Amino acid sequence: NNPLRIGLIGFGCVGQGFYDIVAQQPGLNLTITCIAVKTPGKARSLPAHRFTYHADELLADPELDLLVEVIDDAAEAFRLVSAALRRGRRVATANKAMLARHLPELVQLQAEFGGTLLYEAAVCGSIPVVRTLDQYFSHEPLRAVSGIFNGSSNYVLTRMSEEGSDYGPALAEAQALGFAETDPTLDMGAFDPRSKAVILAAHAYGVFLEADEILNLGIEGVSAADIAHAAAQGQKIKVVAGLYRLPDGRLTALVTPQLLGPESSLYTVEREFNGVVIDAAFAGPQFLQGRGAGGHPTGSAVLADVLALRRGLRYQYAKQATAPAVQLTHGLEIDA
Ligand code: HSE
Repeated sequence: NNPLRIGLIGFGCVGQGFYDIVAQQPGLNLTITCIAVKTPGKARSLPAHRFTYHADELLADPELDLLVEVIDDAAEAFRLVSAALRRGRRVATANKAMLARHLPELVQLQAEFGGTLLYEAAVCGSIPVVRTLDQYFSHEPLRAVSGIFNGSSNYVLTRMSEEGSDYGPALAEAQALGFAETDPTLDMGAFDPRSKAVILAAHAYGVFLEADEILNLGIEGVSAADIAHAAAQGQKIKVVAGLYRLPDGRLTALVTPQLLGPESSLYTVEREFNGVVIDAAFAGPQFLQGRGAGGHPTGSAVLADVLALRRGLRYQYAKQATAPAVQLTHGLEIDA
């Protein structure tokens, strides 16, 4: 049995994490043949001869069985991933901003050219939520999919509430631990969890939302006094993303700070952990929790996709064909 040959594009926090996990498990019979990075001459944990600076060359390389794309730049990621799919290739990506912007087109490219794109690592790090929604919960309607979809802002809120840390130092810690996006506004302003909500809507409801349609409010305006006030009433402030199916079939989507009490499954989701509540019409509510950010947890989800690509998994987006038309309401309308 020849090992599966992987072309890795990107060697930041997630790329390095993925590499480590593969290196520590030789029994998986995988080999990372080639690693493409942007900047020559940067200090890295592997010798320079392991790297190429021409990611485009990997796309056409017949020696590679599949590609893993884990770069930061969403526009460049789309250029590379869409070119790979036009060649009918199998690709795993962790780039949620790219997916939120281009999902319909990426789905279309797979249908047209026969390639496959998987992206479990793009949503809630290590939690297998995309596949759970796509592959398992295609058998019944979902009333809601909600949760904490951003590790960095949850880390900051946890540090502010547990240790009384200030916002700035707590954010610096999240950055140092490799949880935060290069532009921390994406995390703290709830743009990153909004991208994840767009992706989950496609698998939970078969609907391709525009990120701009979803109200997102971040934690920049949450003060230590707000957190203390909540705590005095036995509550915590958490950024909750929600996709809620209204009784008339329409969907409400929003990502905002909320007050949660101990009765909520999300109350104990702390630091970089994420949590997802899937409320299914017949099964009832289910709760998944795990590390939502960091090199190894996210790299682990990338590896799960690589193995799934090897055995031929494709997403179904099944609800798209069967669900009644979904019309998005404005986020605030849920209160009406
Ligand atoms: N910056 C993201 C987060 C990384 O904090 O959740 C994982 O997508």
